[in-house]
Parts: sequence; structure tokens; C-alpha cells
Amino acid sequence: MVNPFEDDDPGPGALEPAANPFRPGMGRIPPDFGGREPALRRAKIIVEQLTAGVAPEFVLYRGVRGVGKTALLAYVRQQAADRGILTVHLEADRDDRSLGVARETLLRDASVLLDGVDAKVARTLTAIQVAGVGVKLRDRGNPAATFESLIADVALLAQRSSRGVLLTVDEVHEAGDLLLKPLLRAAHRAAQEDRPFGLLLSGLPTAAENLFDEGQTYTERLARIDLGLLDRAGTADAVRRPFARVAGAEVDDLVIDALHDASGGYPWFVQLWGEALWDLATDPDHIGLEVARAAGERVHVRVQDFFAARWRRVPTGRAALLVVALAEAGGDAAMADLLDTIEVTHQAASPARRSLLDLGLCWVPQRGRLAFSVPGFGAWILRTRPDR
Ligand SMILES: Nc1ncnc2c1ncn2[C@@H]1O[C@H](COP(=O)(O)OP(=O)(O)O)[C@@H](O)[C@H]1O
Ligand SMILES: [Mg+2]
Repeated sequence: MVNPFEDDDPGPGALEPAANPFRPGMGRIPPDFGGREPALRRAKIIVEQLTAGVAPEFVLYRGVRGVGKTALLAYVRQQAADRGILTVHLEADRDDRSLGVARETLLRDASVLLDGVDAKVARTLTAIQVAGVGVKLRDRGNPAATFESLIADVALLAQRSSRGVLLTVDEVHEAGDLLLKPLLRAAHRAAQEDRPFGLLLSGLPTAAENLFDEGQTYTERLARIDLGLLDRAGTADAVRRPFARVAGAEVDDLVIDALHDASGGYPWFVQLWGEALWDLATDPDHIGLEVARAAGERVHVRVQDFFAARWRRVPTGRAALLVVALAEAGGDAAMADLLDTIEVTHQAASPARRSLLDLGLCWVPQRGRLAFSVPGFGAWILRTRPDR
């Protein structure tokens, strides 16, 4: 037996495993964002405006699970922090009914802004109370009102301390209006006062849709950017660039074709593929089809486990019937056709449909339709018939 610690043997692959740049996993920043130029460009403008001390536009990234929302938020926060902007991150939580966690996080992370302002300004704050060396929150009557005042205070402090603030909020659909209304109202007012307070939000495809439908004025400054699956060029960039930059290796066109086909351009799968190609590379300068074949087998195992775990999250009963019918219909179908198949009325199926959307297993690509949110899930169900 060889002890790898005592031996310089680099191992079976042609590329150093520890240098593998790919990052499959929830919220991990990929080595390169394929196909996200518009989303990154908008975020860059926000960061630049905050650096210049002006009020930016607000942005909401929307998409199904695994398209890269959390990773984008994390990346933009990094970029902002590198430029001296104060960043605060919240994850909306449906159990935080009183917005207590959100308030405490914001208060804790934003209180450094008080260092840069004089006592007179501090006394004008409506929610933040300076008490000796510490800070605490003044109750404004109800949780939403207190939260709204707190946001207004943070934006005011950003302006008075000449330091831009970027607040990112992930999974906004979880808390819905409870969080979004006071947040957007306060942010909208801060923008009217030209305060350097930025908002970058993310959520499932229908996040905040009701607020836009209602035509609330505070949604005027909130731009929606929908993130979908990567196209071939996006997949190619996400895989080729890291190989070129980190290893000086080139990836064959046929490999990109195979990988794009198998992954459906689903960003998390693309990372799995990139990781496997790196680990299994046989030639340090060129990644060819034989490597793709071996990588495909490895990715396949991971993806099967992933689908099995997804299936376990499907509630039994009508939700499971709906999922199987959707698989049989090709993974994207009219709700009316699915209801015909399972012989259930719209009303009776409504809670099941809702649960599939809330769990992120399905989404609504168009009014009246239902689709799986991950490519390949329907085909997996038909192949393995986990319902039987
Ligand atoms: N544009 C992209 N190109 C390639 N991989 C990406 C891209 N965006 C995200 N990823 C990868 O996809 C996976 C899922 O990202 P994540 O941010 O958790 O998605 P979401 O928050 O939308 O569920 C991570 O492994 C991440 O590195
Ligand atoms: Mg996420």
C-alpha cells in the first residue's frame, strides 16, 4: 500500500484534484457564471451607484431552485464589499412571523454605520436607539412598522456616513408580503431621498408577483430578472473558462455538446459535470469524449440520488398523482389536461398543486401550465416508477 501523504504520486487524474475549481452545491459561487451577463451587469450598476453614493435601482432575481440565485447574491456581495460597501444579508423565513430575526440581523450588521455619524443625526433615527455603547430597537407599534422604520434608519445612516449599503434578501417568497411590503416601501422612500441604499432580492419564479399585479408604486423601481436554464453558449462558458484559466486546458466541442445535452443547462448539473471532468481528466491539456463518458457515469449516480431525494419530498396522495401525470405528459403540461388524467377537479387539486410549487418541485412557466423545475426529473420518474 502507498501512503499518499508520504508519496509524491499525483494520483490517477491528469489534473490536481485539490485545484478543482468547480463548485457543485447550494449557494456556492461557481468559478464562472455562464450565461448571466445581463444579471451581472445590472448588479454591477447597483454596486457602482452605491460606491458613488447615489440611490440605485432595485433588482429581484427570479428562478427555480438550482439556477444560481444564491450564488449570484453571494458573488455580488463580495464585489460590493471589496469596494467598501457595507453588505447585509437576510434569508427570508416563513417562521419568522414577527420579523424578529430579520430585524436583529439588520440592526447588528448595520450598527457599524453609527460610528461615522454625529450624535445629532443618531437622535433623529426612528427605530434605532443608541443606548450607551449598544443599540436597540424602538418598537413602532407592530413588527412591520418597526422593520420599515429600521430600513429607513439604515438608509439615512448610509447617506450620512457616506457609505453605501447593499441589502441582499434570499428566498423572498418564503416570507412574502409580510417582509416585502415594509422593505420595499422604506427602500422606495429612501430612493426618493437619493440615499445610497441598494436592494438585491431573489426568489422563486412567482415571487412578489402579486405586488406587481397590484401595481404598488413601490414596485416601480424594482426590476425583475428571470433566470432560466443555460443555453449552449452559457454552458460552454461555465465549463471552458475554468479549465482554460486554471489548467490551461481546452475542452472539446463534442464534450460540450454531450454535457449540455445531459445537463439540460441546469447550472447545478453543469457544476457536477465540470467537477467530474476535472477529476477524471487523462490529458492535462485536452478534455475529450472518453473523459466525458467516464464523467457521465459519475454524474449519473449523483443525479439519480438527487432525483430520488426529490421524489421523497413529494407529498403522498394527489400531489404524487399530479407529479406522475406530469411526468407522463412530458414534464410541462396544461393543468386542465393533468386534471383530466387524474380525474380530480381544479378545486380539489389546488392544495396539491400549491404544495408542489411551494416545495420548488414544480413551477408555472405560463398561466394554466405546470412544469418540473429540474430537467430530467420526469424522465427519471418514468424510468424508475417510484410510485409503484
Ligand atoms: N451561471 C452559472 N453557471 C454555472 N454554474 C452556476 C451558475 N449559477 C450557479 N451555478 C451553480 O449552480 C449551483 C446552484 O446554485 P444556487 O445559487 O444554489 O442556486 P439557487 O439559489 O437558484 O437554488 C451551484 O453549484 C452554483 O455554483
Ligand atoms: Mg438558493
